[in-house]
Parts: sequence; structure tokens; C-alpha cells
Amino acid sequence: MDIRENLAQIGEELRKELACTDALQALEALRVKVLGKKGSLTALLRGMSQLSPEERPKAGQIINEAREKLTALLDDKQKELALKAKEARLQAEAIDVTEPRDVPAIGAEHPMNLVLSEVLDCFTSMGFSVVEGPEIELDLYNFELLNVPKNHPARDAQDTFYIDDNVVLRSQTSPVQARTMLSHKPPIRIVCPGRVFRADEVDATHSPVFHQIEGLVIDRDVTMADLKGTLDAFAKRLYGQDIEVRFRPSFFPFTEPSAEVDLTCFNCHGKGCRVCKGTGWIEVLGCGMVNPKVLEMCGIDSSVYSGFAFGIGVERITMLRYGIRDMRLLYEGDMRFLKQFRR
Ligand code: DAH
Repeated sequence: MDIRENLAQIGEELRKELACTDALQALEALRVKVLGKKGSLTALLRGMSQLSPEERPKAGQIINEAREKLTALLDDKQKELALKAKEARLQAEAIDVTEPRDVPAIGAEHPMNLVLSEVLDCFTSMGFSVVEGPEIELDLYNFELLNVPKNHPARDAQDTFYIDDNVVLRSQTSPVQARTMLSHKPPIRIVCPGRVFRADEVDATHSPVFHQIEGLVIDRDVTMADLKGTLDAFAKRLYGQDIEVRFRPSFFPFTEPSAEVDLTCFNCHGKGCRVCKGTGWIEVLGCGMVNPKVLEMCGIDSSVYSGFAFGIGVERITMLRYGIRDMRLLYEGDMRFLKQFRR
């Protein structure tokens, strides 16, 4: 057979086989089959020894040209397969960043924050706004504008941290009331959560730093019935319809009349136990009708407007909500305790 025919056949076969090769390994096998030591083209080169010396150079040239073409064919196919393999790999590794995923739960919200957001939800749904005030406060707002002048005996009820004669760490969130009345015209409907400070020893029910939520409503014709209705709704929202709310007469310089509010004890449900000191009730907040003197000092006409205010102890209502008996648990950051509140 003529060398050219032979080469044409080898080329033809290679093309056919390349067309149905789709793996790099198979391609390497093909390369060996044609160009390897025992390959078909190599066999042709060997066959040249039988040609006459005149024929050899020409044949060599033809075979070499053919080798170059075949090599190019194989190389092209190799490039094509490598590209395909790369594309397949990228495809397989592709991450769909729009795919929604489960967010792994890390940590847990603090029980006081859980309760705080419930309380704020409750009041904002009744039309209250949430405002905050400074923790380092002027004596003016913390006491004087709330009808507690200097040397007034009511100051003894709260063991206040004084920074100097006129500056205190606020002992209650009530100063936000005075600030709001001075800066806003009625109607006013606000709740003010925040930290407060008193020189108390740490025990199961006391801490020098604790939390309150102040509430204030000022409008025309606000009565004690509005106060009772609002706090009743709050108690039922937090503790369920079965909770009982008791208003007990009390005294605060900034309200007149004043009351303290008790809720049914979480532990004995009213029967009387160690937690509620046998009374069946737990005190959770102080409240009252805003003292007209306070309204006047804060620039609100008490002949036109009236209002009510309340101050909720956040630790108290959290303990009541979850049956926690020792306040210190709320501050220690013990994971065994905190993990129980994972939602
Ligand atoms: N500020 C009071 C306290 O810390 C709580 C309180 C009582 C707040 C009656 C009020 C209120 O707004 O009307 O003991």
C-alpha cells in the first residue's frame, strides 16, 4: 500500500475515534496507539527501511508532516476535553448564593431581653412610643422635677449614687418622664426601658444595677380607669388571661393617688408560698396619676391635662414569667441557665 494511503487511513481512523472520545485517559490511549513505540505511525516509519535510499527522504517528509497534523489533532482534542472537565468542575463547585439556608442557632437571647421585647410590643401596639434617657442624670430630672426636693425624706427610699451634688446615676427611669414633658406637648404616650442604679447589696432580689420600664400617658380626660385598663391588658398579654392584677394603695411623690401593682404568684398561683412570702401575690410595679405639681413643674397645664405613669421592674416580671427564684441568675451569664431560653 502506498504510504499516503496508509497515512490517510491512519488519519481517518484517528478522526473517527477522536469523535467518540470524551475522556482524557481514553485520549492518551489513542495517542499511544498512533504515536507510541508500537503505534501505527511509528510502524510506518520503521517500514521506511525497506524503501530505496532515493525514496526515503520524500517518504520521511510525508510521514513527518502527517505526524505533525495528527499531533495537532490530538492536542486540540486534549484542550477541548480539559476545558470541558474544568467547566464541569466549576459547575459542580458552584454555590447558589441566593439559596435560602437554615441559620444555625448560636447562643440564645437573654430572658430579660425576651420579656423586654414582649413588653415593648405590648405597649407599642397600644400606641406608645419607645424613648430612652441618660443613665448619668441631673438631680433635677431624677428628683426635683418629680416632686422630690433636696432634703425631702423620700430620697432616703432610694439609696442613690451621687457623682456630685447635682449629678447622679439615675435611681429610676422616671426622669425620662420629666424630660419628655418638658420637650413634648401632650398627648404623650411613652415607655422608657433602661438601666437604673442604687447602692444595694447583691442578694436573691437585689442588685446595684437593675432595669425598669417607665410608662407615661398625658392627655385630656385621662383617668385612673385608663391606668387600670392599660396595666390589666399588659399583665394579661404577658402572663395569660388567668392572671389576677391587684392595685394596692401606696405613695410616690410624683403620683397622686399612687398604687403598687401585684400579680398572682407564679409559684403557688395565689395559695401562698415561700416565693411570695405567704401572700399569694408578687409586686411588679409602681404607678399612679401624675401629680399635678409635677405636670406644672414640667410645663403642662394641669387644669387641662391629666395623666398616669408607671414603673415596671424588668427583673421582677422576668422572674415571674419564667419562675426564676434568684435574680443573680440573670446576671451571671451561665450558659446552662441561658440555653433554656432558646426560642
Ligand atoms: N420610680 C419608681 C421606683 O423606682 C417606680 C414608679 C412608681 C414609677 C410610680 C412611676 C410611678 O412612674 O408612677 O420605685
